[in-house]
Amino acid sequence: MKEQKTYILAIESSCDDTSAAVLLNGKVLSNVVATQKIHEEYGGVVPELASRAHQQNIVPVVHMALDKANIGKKELSAIAFTSGPGLLGSLLVGTSFAKSLALGLNIPLIEVNHMQAHILAHFIEEENFDKPTFPFLAMTISGGHTQIIRVDNYFDMTVIGETIDDAVGEAFDKSAKILGLPYPGGPLIDKYAGEGDPKAFRFPKPKVDGLNFSFSGLKTSILYFTQKHTAENSAFIEENLRDICASIQYTIVNILMDKLKKASKETGIRQIAIGGGVSANSGIRNALKEAEKKYGWKTFIPKFEYTTDNAAMIGITGYLKYREKDFSEQTVTAKARFKV
Ligand code: KG4
Ligand code: ZN
Repeated sequence: MKEQKTYILAIESSCDDTSAAVLLNGKVLSNVVATQKIHEEYGGVVPELASRAHQQNIVPVVHMALDKANIGKKELSAIAFTSGPGLLGSLLVGTSFAKSLALGLNIPLIEVNHMQAHILAHFIEEENFDKPTFPFLAMTISGGHTQIIRVDNYFDMTVIGETIDDAVGEAFDKSAKILGLPYPGGPLIDKYAGEGDPKAFRFPKPKVDGLNFSFSGLKTSILYFTQKHTAENSAFIEENLRDICASIQYTIVNILMDKLKKASKETGIRQIAIGGGVSANSGIRNALKEAEKKYGWKTFIPKFEYTTDNAAMIGITGYLKYREKDFSEQTVTAKARFKV
C-alpha cells in the first residue's frame, strides 16, 4: 500500500523567534527561523516590539518555508501553530495567521502547546538520532522554561518539577549581564567557562523541596560577589572572567543534575531527554554523557536547531495530532498560560 503523504505547515511565534516549517510525514523539509535582533539593545525581550516584528516577519518566513520545501500551499494537509504558552501579543500573530490560512485553504487547523512541542521534537524523523521510548523523563531548559516532565505517551505528560522563580536561561543571561556581557549571555558564559577553572569560586546552591528549581538566589549572590570584589579591585571581573564563568556554569549544571538524578531515582526511569536553548550548553552535555556511564542512563539531545524555539517541533507535534485527527475549531484562541 502506498503511504499517504501528509504535509504539515507549522508556525511558531510564542516569544522572539518567528518560525515556519514544512514537514512530510514527520520529516523536516524546511525550518526557517527569523530571530529578532531588536531585543539585544534592551538586554531582554520587549513584548510589544516582539509582536510588531512577528507581524513583519510572518509572511516572508512562511513563503520561504514553502519555497525551501518546494511545495505549494494547495498541497498542504494541515496547519499547526503554537497557541501557548508565551507572550500573548506574539502568540496572537501566529494564531490569527494560521487560522485565516487554514480557513482559506479549507484544511484542518491544529493548535500546539509549545512546551509539549519542545519534548516531541525528539520524534522528528532524523538520521542518526534515536527516539526515546515511553516512559522517559524530559527536562526543558531555556530562557522561558525549566521543567522536568514525566512522559508516558505523546500527549500524556506530567510536570514533576519546575522553577519557582527564574528560568535557567535567565540565570545564565542575568549572570552574564552582571559580568557586563551582551544579551543573550548564556552562550558566552559557556564559551569562557571552557577556558576557566570551575572550582575557582563557590556559589551557593539553593535549597528547594522536591524536584523544583530556584535560580533567583544565585543571581543575587553573583551580584554581591562581584560588587564586593570590584570594590577592592576594579579590574576583578576582567581579570577573572573565565574562572567566574566556569564557576557559574558549574553551579548551574550541578543544580540541574541534582534534580534530574533525584527524578530518575524516584521514578526509576533512566531515559532522559533534554530540550530548550540551554541544552546547547557544553557543561550540561558533558554531565549527561558522564551520567550515561555512571548511572546507566540513556540520554537524548536533539539537533541544535530543534532545541531552541523553532517551528519544526510544532510541525512534528501537529503531525502526531493529525494522525489522531485531533483538530482545532476556528474558535481556538491564543493563551499566555497553557499547561502541558
Ligand atoms: O529555547 P531558547 O532559544 O528560547 C527560549 O527562551 O524559549 O533559549 C534561549 C536561552 C537563552 O537564555 C540563552 O542564553 C540560552 O538559551 N543558551 C545557553 C546556551 N545557548 C543558548 N545557555 C547556556 N549555554 C549555552 N551554550
Ligand atoms: Zn521555548
